[in-house]
Amino acid sequence: MNCTILAIESSCDETSASVIQNGKILSNIIATQAVHEQYGGVVPELASRAHMQNIVPVIQNALSKANIAKNDLNAVAFTQGPGLLGALVVGVSFAKSLALGLDIPLIGVNHMQAHILAHFIDEPRPEFPFLCLTVSGGHTQIVIVRSHLEMEVIGHTQDDAVGEAFDKTAKLLGLPYPGGPQLDKAAVGGDYTKFIFPSVDTPGLNYSFSGIKTAFMYFLRDQKLKNENFVEENMNDICASIQASIVEILLKKLRKASRETGIKQIAIAGGVSANSWLRAKLQEEAEKHRWSVYVPAFEYCTDNAAMIAMAAHFKFINNEFCDLNTGPMPRMAL
Ligand code: KG4
Ligand code: ZN
Repeated sequence: MNCTILAIESSCDETSASVIQNGKILSNIIATQAVHEQYGGVVPELASRAHMQNIVPVIQNALSKANIAKNDLNAVAFTQGPGLLGALVVGVSFAKSLALGLDIPLIGVNHMQAHILAHFIDEPRPEFPFLCLTVSGGHTQIVIVRSHLEMEVIGHTQDDAVGEAFDKTAKLLGLPYPGGPQLDKAAVGGDYTKFIFPSVDTPGLNYSFSGIKTAFMYFLRDQKLKNENFVEENMNDICASIQASIVEILLKKLRKASRETGIKQIAIAGGVSANSWLRAKLQEEAEKHRWSVYVPAFEYCTDNAAMIAMAAHFKFINNEFCDLNTGPMPRMAL
């Protein structure tokens, strides 16, 4: 059977649409909202308005790039959650109207599940079961992935997400929003052993990033009292050191999870999986522990509709549809 799906992503500050046909991505259009830069973070009301402006052109672009007419579609998929309510509602409403108008089924997708399923867009694809470290601006999770749609969270953050830790430390250093990728760039070639930042030990496989964030804040305050140009003079080494400390927190629990479950197929997903230090360290760990590691292509790390389309493809095959009464779920669990 032919299966052509239009997928819409609008959970945060990217408006994106993608067309997938029989499991193959035909287009993936992403409009990044620049409006938040001047505020140093995502402003929910502005995100919602920008989605309203972007959604029609983004969808038209995705359909035309894929060379697909609306009448060729077999289903419409959308990000149901987690995410910002006002942002999600734009994608959900559009998807519902389109499904109603075309009389085709509707598929609600969990954004975090989609980040993981981005691994099935291209080769190499992980084998089941695998562990996925899902690291984004709102989440930090270790997930056992048993099949395309069967996933279990075995570790999560008790406070901040790792993306927030990157963004907040970058902000303290005066780097522009979004801080994570800026900090990554500013760290290249720096001495990552120059400054040590303590982290809080957390039980089991859970994470905590609030301790290191606070320690970093006080460290900068104290150093600036001694030398007001401390940040400017040491930017490269500070970024390398804090990045290495944050990544080590991530890897420590991932090693533990692999030991405890005996699973050596390891994947990373989500915006922070674009981090160059995390990617490099993961390769080192792979050699040490004989892991097979899977790192997504850069274009599928941060928010995009291709991953929503991939998840929708598996749900379509599994007959998992939702009805027109469905709504956004800002706190949707995996
Ligand atoms: O998955 P994502 O695009 O959106 C959410 O679902 O949250 O992740 C965004 C997060 C932001 O915190 C951003 O700073 C972080 O991913 N990020 C990075 C890098 N690229 C994106 N953090 C560190 N290094 C990067 N290269
Ligand atoms: Zn995301």
